Amino acid sequence: PRTLRVALLGAGSVGSQVARLLIEHADDLAERSGVRLALAGILVRDPDAPRDSPLPRELLTTDAEELILGADIVIELMGGIEPARSYVLQALHSGADVVTGNKALLATHGAEIFEAADQVGASVSYEAAVAAAIPIIRPLRDSLAGDRIARIFGIVNGSTNFILDAMDRQGLSAQEAQRIATELGYLEADPTLDLEGYDAAQKAAILASLAFHTQVTIDDVHREGIESVTADMIADARRAGYVVKLLAVCERLAEASGDGVSVRVYPALIDREHPLASVHGGNNAVFVEAEAAGPLMFYGAGAGGVQTASAVLGDVVSAARRHIAGGVGVGESARQSLPIAPFGHI
Ligand code: HSE
Repeated sequence: PRTLRVALLGAGSVGSQVARLLIEHADDLAERSGVRLALAGILVRDPDAPRDSPLPRELLTTDAEELILGADIVIELMGGIEPARSYVLQALHSGADVVTGNKALLATHGAEIFEAADQVGASVSYEAAVAAAIPIIRPLRDSLAGDRIARIFGIVNGSTNFILDAMDRQGLSAQEAQRIATELGYLEADPTLDLEGYDAAQKAAILASLAFHTQVTIDDVHREGIESVTADMIADARRAGYVVKLLAVCERLAEASGDGVSVRVYPALIDREHPLASVHGGNNAVFVEAEAAGPLMFYGAGAGGVQTASAVLGDVVSAARRHIAGGVGVGESARQSLPIAPFGHI
């Protein structure tokens, strides 16, 4: 059968699991894609650095140019803006399909990247960028493409949910809960991204852009994190029948209230009877309210290396199928311009 060359950029907690699964499940993936997926190389900073999970030494490289140039599918799991942005653009310009889990990149330079993809007829897939293994990007982009989405809200950050949950149910201090979340690999390398709500805001920007067919960037998102939430506040909320959750809320405002988009991330009091109150540990839950479909709920693990790797591999299989079918991109650069509303209302 035909073979597609896959380049992997980054071998962190997600990247190393993607590499492992690509190698261990090669036969299954070939059957599902209709083509063999050959891992051509893994871009790392230091090939000799010690790693939690061993990777084939001969695949490790520091030569990004060469790796990208020879690839049919480029998986970008480096995180951060540069050099990830340049590598993704380079991959698209060379005609490769791109799979990325990079929420910071998409929430900042999404417009540029989708435009580059549409220009060359390549695809950019990013199921792994929001809520790890939970399918939410494809449902918004494809399954609900014929509907009108009014609101998306929920818990999109696993580590802060783990921390708030451990403080609520086990009475832990913020520091102690954070230490365990770190051990479980839920937190970003820079934990302030999670604790100060940037990670959730990036995901909210991506969801709002897709749902409302517009371009919302991280700068458009009103953001409050959990850094000032104390064990006392959580205990008080508990006594009053509430639980504290870091919420992301993306709304399309009705014409009467200014016809725009409101995207907000903030710690909220949730009634203990509400389904969001029972989202425990590193889980995420996203509610989508669509005009015709009505309310939908998406729930599951929202963080973790192997969980996120599942979403990456799903995108790789889809890209491989599209690649051999000679398909083109999904036209995501054709988005409308909507005003960003200064206030939210719920
Ligand atoms: N740090 C992120 C979280 C990882 O806690 O949700 C998954 O995006």
